[in-house]
Amino acid sequence: MAQFKRHRRLRSSANMRSIVRETYLHIEDFIYPLFIVEEENTKQEVPSMPGVYHLSLDYLVKEVQSIVDLGIKSIILFGVPNDKDEVGSCAYHEEGIVQKSIKLVKEHFPELVVVADTCLCQYTSHGHCGVIEDGYVENDKSLELLVKTAVSQAQAGADIIAPSNMMDGFVAAIREGLDEAGFVDTPIMSYAVKYASSFYGPFRDAAHSTPQFGDRKTYQMDPANRLEALREAESDLAEGADFLIVKPALSYLDIIRDVKDSFNVPVVAYNVSGEYSMIKAAAQNGWISEKEIVLEMLTSMKRAGVDLIITYFAKDAANWLSENEK
Ligand code: PBG
Repeated sequence: MAQFKRHRRLRSSANMRSIVRETYLHIEDFIYPLFIVEEENTKQEVPSMPGVYHLSLDYLVKEVQSIVDLGIKSIILFGVPNDKDEVGSCAYHEEGIVQKSIKLVKEHFPELVVVADTCLCQYTSHGHCGVIEDGYVENDKSLELLVKTAVSQAQAGADIIAPSNMMDGFVAAIREGLDEAGFVDTPIMSYAVKYASSFYGPFRDAAHSTPQFGDRKTYQMDPANRLEALREAESDLAEGADFLIVKPALSYLDIIRDVKDSFNVPVVAYNVSGEYSMIKAAAQNGWISEKEIVLEMLTSMKRAGVDLIITYFAKDAANWLSENEK
């Protein structure tokens, strides 16, 4: 008989497979996103994201308790304000919805790692992530507002600042602003590699942040580019980023691997809304097995090299992982 390798020897039983398994998911890997609204007494499902809710402050503590009870160590907060204006004032208001949420959560759960998404698009009337002049998103003017937002979030008690607006120099500007305000120990989790992706569609429903004109292609990256991702990551690190986010995740696993292999900081995948909603829709139709698919997808992100995953599936995955342990 011809010589060949017997790879199946290592797959012969569940225990055999488990002792040679290379990649594991842990509850500690997950960061759970929450959307907070200014109305009272509200827990309303986002139509395009079944299982994801608009929560008001009075529901927040109970919700976070259930997250903490599952063993999840970190959340990321998004504000959905009632009032929007040209310069996104509510993003950096002391009594802004995110600032209030951070304070409330830290008061009740001082140990939980609270990440603040730092962007303007939910807060601007035009839905862009910065200041508009002559129809163009002005880089340096947007930075000033972003710094104000980051500092106000740190003052409210955020443990990590996660700027997502893709202006050039945002990490340097925020680092300087945080340091001057006395927050030298607050880390920056930069959305360093953020593509102009159609996978954000359902989020824009959830966060009411669809651009009212044009698109985000002058600041978010072209999905066709790989080397540009490395340039973005490199400059953010040089500017002082402590974590690097790659976003979206599923169609960009190659980029995750590249970033992981090129730099030595924690790499984070953002398993975005479109990736979530596609699975939810198929599962609701009975076309796929949700649990199996979700765990396979999240495992693929870990295998590609990420240390952390921002995912709307965090609670489900935490439940499934603890079931599997029993
Ligand atoms: C804000 C922001 C976006 C997401 C996170 N922060 C949307 C965007 O750039 O339009 C997307 C998250 C998701 O799709 O789950 N800049």
